[in-house]
Amino acid sequence: MRSVSAQTPGTPVDLKTEHLVNPLGIDATTPRFSWRLQDPRRGARQTAWQIQVSTDSLEPGRGAGNSWQPARQASDQTLVTYSGKPLRPFTAYFWRVTAWDQDGKPHTSATARFETGLMHPKNWQGAWISDGADETIKPAPYFRKVFQTGKTIRSARAYVATGGLYELYLNGQKIGNHRLDPMYTRFDRRVLYVTYDVTKQFRTGANALGVLLGNGWYNHQSTAVWYFHKAPWRNRPTFCLDLRITYDDGSVETISSGTDWKTSLSPIRFNSIYTAERYDARLEQPGWNQVNFDDTKWTAAKIRSAPSANIVAQVMHPIRNVEAIPARSLTKLNDTTYVFDLGRNIAGVSQIRVQGPAGTTLRLKHAERLTKDGRADQSNIDMHYRPTDQSDPFQTDVITLSGRGEETFMPHFNYKGFQYVEVTSTQPVTLTQQSLTGYFMHSDVPATGQVNSANPALNKIWQATNNSYLSNLFGYPTDCPQREKNGWTGDAHIAVETGLYNFDGITIYEKWLADHRDEQQPNGVLPSIIPTGGWGYDWGNGPDWTSTIALIPWNVYLFYGDKKILIDNYDAIKRYVDHLEASSPNNLTSWGLGDWVPVKSKAPVELTSSIYYYTDTRILANIARLLNRTDDYTHYSSLAARIRQAINAKYLNQTAARYGSGLQTELSAPLHWGLVPDGLSAAVASQLAQRVEADQAHIDVGLLGTKTILNALSDNGHADLAYRVASQETFPSWGWWIANGATTLYENWPIDAKSDISLNHIMFGEVGAWMYKALGGIKPDPNAPGFKHILLKPNFVKTLDHFEATHQGPHGMIRSAWRRSGSGITYLVTVPPNSTATLFLTDGQAYADGRLLSPTTNAGVSGRQYRLVAGSYQFEIR
Ligand code: BGC
Repeated sequence: MRSVSAQTPGTPVDLKTEHLVNPLGIDATTPRFSWRLQDPRRGARQTAWQIQVSTDSLEPGRGAGNSWQPARQASDQTLVTYSGKPLRPFTAYFWRVTAWDQDGKPHTSATARFETGLMHPKNWQGAWISDGADETIKPAPYFRKVFQTGKTIRSARAYVATGGLYELYLNGQKIGNHRLDPMYTRFDRRVLYVTYDVTKQFRTGANALGVLLGNGWYNHQSTAVWYFHKAPWRNRPTFCLDLRITYDDGSVETISSGTDWKTSLSPIRFNSIYTAERYDARLEQPGWNQVNFDDTKWTAAKIRSAPSANIVAQVMHPIRNVEAIPARSLTKLNDTTYVFDLGRNIAGVSQIRVQGPAGTTLRLKHAERLTKDGRADQSNIDMHYRPTDQSDPFQTDVITLSGRGEETFMPHFNYKGFQYVEVTSTQPVTLTQQSLTGYFMHSDVPATGQVNSANPALNKIWQATNNSYLSNLFGYPTDCPQREKNGWTGDAHIAVETGLYNFDGITIYEKWLADHRDEQQPNGVLPSIIPTGGWGYDWGNGPDWTSTIALIPWNVYLFYGDKKILIDNYDAIKRYVDHLEASSPNNLTSWGLGDWVPVKSKAPVELTSSIYYYTDTRILANIARLLNRTDDYTHYSSLAARIRQAINAKYLNQTAARYGSGLQTELSAPLHWGLVPDGLSAAVASQLAQRVEADQAHIDVGLLGTKTILNALSDNGHADLAYRVASQETFPSWGWWIANGATTLYENWPIDAKSDISLNHIMFGEVGAWMYKALGGIKPDPNAPGFKHILLKPNFVKTLDHFEATHQGPHGMIRSAWRRSGSGITYLVTVPPNSTATLFLTDGQAYADGRLLSPTTNAGVSGRQYRLVAGSYQFEIR
């Protein structure tokens, strides 16, 4: 086989294992490999592939290390599942792929790698240890161990599983740049471990390991919402560590956690994921994580039981301090009171640098807004904060200075939602605008989408949507980064498309769906927040919220074309739908919260909840068909038909083409979720358009309606109106927040609402996805998911001169960009290699190089369709 050098068109690039680049420490026995072609040529496609997987880094698949080398496959697939020799734990594998292009020429990729982790809990050697204190003890514990290495090291890996949060140090250096590891799970059912390459931090001779443990959601000491202080798993933080060293001579030694570790309390006097951190720099123990530290006053670590026997690899984009945000202004109120403004609302932490006399105590109070007199105002976010005394102020770090020159503080085990930081101190200190930096923290998912248009307000709405999406992504999707930080299911399924158009979120959602499976009751019921400490099985968990179990896998499948999430969750979805079926004898259900936080009108809960029941059932039937479960397909498709019938029988007035009393949600939800009988959609859509016009082209919906209102309009011939609604800058609208200075999305429509007033909620965020779908027209095709075939349905809305959306899908960058020119539109399209698209034009015809193109079908009313192969195009639409 001849291979061609890397940059030639047709080369496979972006090689990923389990959807990550060169991951370390995976447990999958049959990992998924994916790649895309680098090939701008018109019609570029893959005609065959061959993969080689080996433990030999130089010649994958050739030598003794050959693990998998299937025969050349005549196929265009670029996502394949390993099926070679059983993978071994603790092993580095190398792989590359050869892709044959449309001319039958082979192109070989560069070599990628992945490394297995423990693969099975039985491979752990370490003991679970803690400092033996009970869960009420406040200070965070340190642990240390010194050990000798005699031989030269080839490589070393640290595997750390934790109940709680941890930071790992080797010879005084913090390992890695993750924050808040490991990600939050239902600790008594699944604990995650993280793998690090620590080869570089090693020294020959004596080495010191240090571990600092934080509480996280494992030991919730703050008394706050949803009873996490009573979680069944709650305990003093604990960890288990194996440091596996491979020497140059091939021998292996494992240094593990055990009773030979020593422990002491750290200067972190208190840490709460929900409230904040207290730090006393006078209690620092310099060198605690280095070899020559005198630890004679430290005590021996104690053996503990594992939080759960189910210890699995954390295989996902980690949380990081992704963006440093300098303070935009500083207001000095007096010698001891300063207020910093970051200029934008974020989730994360602040870092302060300050000098002052020993014993000076500073309080850093984080807030999203200011009171009239310029102080930090938490009244919009502290309603669930239930302190039992003064010692645990909300979103307020408390630090005591050591007096040793300039001191720096940033919390280790906490994050907050804020724009402002009010610093008060017990003695005068001098602070400048440079003294404080904000860090935007979130799961560090790569961006995959861009939107830009001629309307600056629309661009800002898109930006604010992404800010809120990321502010609410911490290894699981949350509702808000301040008041609750909870995995509210409803908020997450409404925002899933916005997430997937803009970010590479599959690893986060796969993990969160595992959290769902951990939480599901045997009868199929899910709690309204996931993970939960037990609350939420009896409030807020109807199908309008917990349909995450079906909606998230289905959308991830549409965006990635990867069936694994469907297979993994099939039984859970089925149990969920079976529960709904058993509890809905007349095929309708009123279980749910309904159209949450509406502008003014609220659709009947039975209508909206039954629509979600219908949608889940339909998704389940679709998956059953895909997975060849014929009996299930028959059962659930007929159940779906019965639900649809029941909803239409009760809520649809056929003659008036109206659902219920004709509210925006009542009309748009049936249109969007496909309940409207054939032939009636246009009439219902026109009712909806009239309703919206009567509302002065403003929304009158709540959470569920925000998912459907814009889509129902633009998918049914009313894109201009949808755009007017989406781009409004007067109340009630997304733009109204922006006009009032918002940099994130809010929880309520009025700026001065009295309840539900977090300033960083993602729940109204579908508008971000709508821009891609309706204006860019980029939609996945359920029959060829993962943008293998792209449905391109742009709407050149009249009051906008220019719009551009790009999305980096599994096959590469999809671009849809249009601009008004004279009486027509110049339309630029990129269809990535190895995929195709169908362009649907409702108005006008497409010209290329001055020539009228002939459409594949001319369906008259529904417009023209053009089949596009891979490549970049410039069309004139006239
Ligand atoms: C959360 C919401 C959530 C709702 C459900 C609120 O407290 O912040 O976003 O979906 O409760 O009722």
